[in-house]
Amino acid sequence: MTKKPDFEIFLVGIPGLEDVVLEEARARGFKGPKRVPGGVRILGQWHDVWRANLELRCATRVLARIGGFHAEHLSDLDRQARKFPWREWLRKDVAVRVETACHKSRIYHSGAATQRIETALVESLGATISDDADLCIKARIDHDEVLFSIDTTGDSLHKRGHKEAIAKAPLRETMAASFLRLSGFTGNETLLDPMCGSGTFVIEAAEMALGLKPGRTREFSFTQLRNFDSLTWSQMKAASSLAPSDFRFYGSDRDKGAISMATANAVRAGVEGVTLFSAQTISALTPPDGPPGLVIVNPPYGTRISKKQPLFDLYAAFGKVLIERFKGWRVSLVTVDSKLAKATKLPFAHTSDPILHGGLKVKLFRTDRLV
Ligand SMILES: C[S@@+](CC[C@H](N)C(=O)[O-])C[C@H]1O[C@@H](n2cnc3c(N)ncnc32)[C@H](O)[C@@H]1O
Repeated sequence: MTKKPDFEIFLVGIPGLEDVVLEEARARGFKGPKRVPGGVRILGQWHDVWRANLELRCATRVLARIGGFHAEHLSDLDRQARKFPWREWLRKDVAVRVETACHKSRIYHSGAATQRIETALVESLGATISDDADLCIKARIDHDEVLFSIDTTGDSLHKRGHKEAIAKAPLRETMAASFLRLSGFTGNETLLDPMCGSGTFVIEAAEMALGLKPGRTREFSFTQLRNFDSLTWSQMKAASSLAPSDFRFYGSDRDKGAISMATANAVRAGVEGVTLFSAQTISALTPPDGPPGLVIVNPPYGTRISKKQPLFDLYAAFGKVLIERFKGWRVSLVTVDSKLAKATKLPFAHTSDPILHGGLKVKLFRTDRLV
């Protein structure tokens, strides 16, 4: 059988963290990775789309570019959308929805364009259109070029599928994984998050160390496409480089409720054998036995100025404990305010660009090994 030509697959990145997705796509062996606005483009076949959804920790979504055409008017769009080979990918019995974005094009009304594409889908394929459909066709009209993509992911990739209990202000898993990569973490060292909340950093780190695939337990939209092959998909999920780890991944928090959640999340993720959680405050923190590794933390930020002083005290206490007790460890701190980072008195040597998180801009501050 002749192999079909590769097509473009777009990996949507967290704004400000697209380069991390590029690095991850390269490391996972995807073909032709290239940084483009909003994410990374790779080339491949449908099994690469499935693999990207299954294996990538830092991307938020995987779009399959299925083709397009030139259209200057709604009537062009209407006519050509009816001739588009939707049947190759879409099933009549699976409802779809359409989202359109117009940019510098004569067709500028995205609502009207969506309506034309939906009508074409109904009349040429017999598809059912529903606002609640899991499966989404994304149309981008840029300089009169219409490009269709299928969102093959569904719920954003930060939803790993095995985390149910969420503490206050959790980090998204995709963001936690990106910060781990930016911190040079590859799974081969001890890790400690002393304000771990629901355990996001600790669980991501443990999964990385054990070679567990982030999408192994969740659902994806691509399973509703005509070309989905459940046998190959099951084999892909089963083929795992599961490796025992000599390292342990520690989380602590002063909030006992958060520790119960983190423990339950670790069990659901299947990493309870290598994670240890304990309820304790920063002041009681001591390094675990063994060689130094990475301390990674996102302490509370606080948004109101009036509430800032206790935060400065907390950051100062955190820094003091690390400087006094954690010689040889590296420290990564995620926070909104450079002044809070400075209050730790830690020797930060690297600061990331600002990254949008829950309406705030956070940065990652990193030290080299503490001396
Ligand atoms: C922004 S949340 C961390 C969220 C976490 N990264 C997650 O993904 O769920 C900050 C955490 O710091 C904890 N915390 C605040 N002060 C602390 C202290 N003095 N000692 C230990 N934990 C503290 C809070 O209980 C809270 O869970």
